[in-house]
Amino acid sequence: MIRRLICCFLLIAPFTNSFAQSVSPAQQKKMDAFITNLMSKMTLDEKIGQLNLEAVGFDVTGPIVSKNVNENIQKGNVGGVFNTYTPDAVRKLQEIAVNHSRLKIPLFFGYDVIHGHKTIFPIPLGLASSWDLDMIQKSAQIAASEASADGLNWVFSPMVDIARDPRWGRIAEGNGEDTWLGSQIAARMVKGYQGNNLYDTDHVMACVKHFALYGAAESGRDYNTVDMSERRMYQDYLPPYKAAIDAGAGSIMSSFNEINGVPATANKWLMTDLLRKQWGFKGFVATDYTAMMELIPHGMGKDGYAVGKKAIDAGIDMDMVSDIFLDNLKKLVNDGKVPVSEIDIACRRILEAKYKMGLFTDPYRYCNVQRAATTIMKQDYIDAARDAAKKSIVLLKNNNSVLPLKQGGSIALVGPLADDHRDMIGPWSGAGDWHKSVSVLDGIKQLAGSNVQINYAKGANITDSEWLLKRLGKDELSFDKRSPQEMIDEAVAAAKKSDVIVAVVGEAATMSGEAASRSDIGIFPNQEDLLKALKATGKPLVIVLMNGRPLTLNWENDNADAMLEAWFGGTEAGSAIADVLFGAYNPSAKITATFPQNVGQIPLYYSHKNTGRPYAGDFVDRYKSRYLDVSNDPLYPFGFGLSYTTFTYSPIKLNTTSIKPGQPLQVSVTVSNTGKYDGTEIVQLYTRQMYGSVTRPVEELKNFKKVFLKAGESQVVNFTITSDDLKFYNIDMKYTYEPGDFKVFVGTNSRDVNSADFKLTN
Ligand code: BGC
Repeated sequence: MIRRLICCFLLIAPFTNSFAQSVSPAQQKKMDAFITNLMSKMTLDEKIGQLNLEAVGFDVTGPIVSKNVNENIQKGNVGGVFNTYTPDAVRKLQEIAVNHSRLKIPLFFGYDVIHGHKTIFPIPLGLASSWDLDMIQKSAQIAASEASADGLNWVFSPMVDIARDPRWGRIAEGNGEDTWLGSQIAARMVKGYQGNNLYDTDHVMACVKHFALYGAAESGRDYNTVDMSERRMYQDYLPPYKAAIDAGAGSIMSSFNEINGVPATANKWLMTDLLRKQWGFKGFVATDYTAMMELIPHGMGKDGYAVGKKAIDAGIDMDMVSDIFLDNLKKLVNDGKVPVSEIDIACRRILEAKYKMGLFTDPYRYCNVQRAATTIMKQDYIDAARDAAKKSIVLLKNNNSVLPLKQGGSIALVGPLADDHRDMIGPWSGAGDWHKSVSVLDGIKQLAGSNVQINYAKGANITDSEWLLKRLGKDELSFDKRSPQEMIDEAVAAAKKSDVIVAVVGEAATMSGEAASRSDIGIFPNQEDLLKALKATGKPLVIVLMNGRPLTLNWENDNADAMLEAWFGGTEAGSAIADVLFGAYNPSAKITATFPQNVGQIPLYYSHKNTGRPYAGDFVDRYKSRYLDVSNDPLYPFGFGLSYTTFTYSPIKLNTTSIKPGQPLQVSVTVSNTGKYDGTEIVQLYTRQMYGSVTRPVEELKNFKKVFLKAGESQVVNFTITSDDLKFYNIDMKYTYEPGDFKVFVGTNSRDVNSADFKLTN
């Protein structure tokens, strides 16, 4: 019997279609027959086993690590495993499934590969700032190549949650606040991971997360409640998940949060009506870590029996770590509470994914030690990480052209992150080896060599707050025991003997990402003390920021001569920062999440509504939608980022001022590089519908172009808009356009734009 099954696995022809493409009828028939045959041999327990995902290994994000995994695999109680990688470790577990379980069904191996596997790229919020879709796709492709060489076939990425609240630490893991850009990136990430052919062993299956609306947690506190109008959901928050699914994502992860009173993991409307019926999703749904168990504290049911029923009824296929399906589904079926057909459907979806990945053909196809050795962290990948990191660095300020620095003289390199290796690879870099990362100190030394005298001093810890040190761990934060004053004095002495100060400040990696919400998103007071002391020396002050979220940077903005937002830039962050500091790369990135002036302004995003009392900026204009104590303006608006050169924009030219549905509106501007350096500009196009059946945002991003211009060069940049770009959810929640008056804006960020008017007629 066992021998016969092995033969049967080996006879399966490669399944050469990705999830994106519909399979040919012949392939579909073959797969269906194979799975039907296999399922006819499966007991109910074995089917339920396929719906169970267990955590084995290195790190976890919750209170439970699955128990008795080997025994469970042997019994056929496990469909997939996560947190185990390396070809050897994977092979060991796969051998248990394939050699010792009755039906020899191979396991999936998943992992949180979020911004690179071993070669770590900038955090997603940083990558998004590059607006470089090809590069972003390439980063996912490289991550897939390394992860699959390391035994993995499934990644819990991309994270496509729209986030408009920088208090939420997980804003670091997504693409920012914009729906259109977020959707483009979501699709590219899926393509990068899965390629055109999931059967290739250098691709992995994507798992889109966190479905849904996880980024809209009330008050930016992780795992918190989400309550949102249907209109806002459809218009702003759901499109990136849909884009990832349309790009062919093989799986999706249910989020922790509730949505309008029903947690995602028990939400039938979400998982079945929307995902399956409206969107036609064909892959499988896994829960987030213990999300099924969390339905109990959510108040969905008093035990696993109650919430397991709700989850399977809602349309969840796979239970991550809770063991609730494992412990309750059989009884639910035997008690007549859950039809066996629900389990059959979920089991089939999971087996289909395994089939498509060729695991039945060769369960060890991702376990090639030789391939791992030649693939992981190869020079091409390191080079790509450096390229990505420099394209993600945003120049926030540059007074009197302090930057780029000249390769000569002396630099005081100070700050808790100036010689950091660990934090710079950022949150969710589980397999990344921080020992291999390049610090800013290393990067500057490598680039400028002996031409520059570097006077290094740490200057401050990341934080002195006892509260935070207790919560995050002193060791984790590489805490220096010297007194704050001693450290500042050393830094000031370094500054006094240098021509310019480069201060590398910000957050520790553990201060953003999961379970890392902050109510105050400023630079920590002890770091600000350091910056103030440095400023007092009168030397030019360049601030380099490493952090995972928009920060409030009023003092820094007022006092720094130049400021770079470097995010957590990954393995090559130090080299990339040096490239930018010395002008080997002219910064081109633009932020994709608004930086507020203070926390009280949050949520603050560019595509807001006008209100009936829009504030026009007049100081005493009292009964308007504004604050008394702060302006409505952000510190840095969406799409903002400077260059070492300057770009000017001509007025907008339109081919017509009135279009009919389907007709193109040609929008063109001449962009000129009027500065001294060659540079890349991200030219952004926004529209506004002036009147509608429902109110419309004051601006919506619809397109952009990245153009490289030599110093002194000009280029005409063309865009086309049609009625399709003007669609939205109208008063009847129909996705359509409405004839009427529009504005088009083109500019260097969402605030600094030129505009022109046009009409859409019937
Ligand atoms: C996170 C997910 C992650 C999962 C598995 C959870 O805590 O929310 O994003 O994929 O853990 O590690």
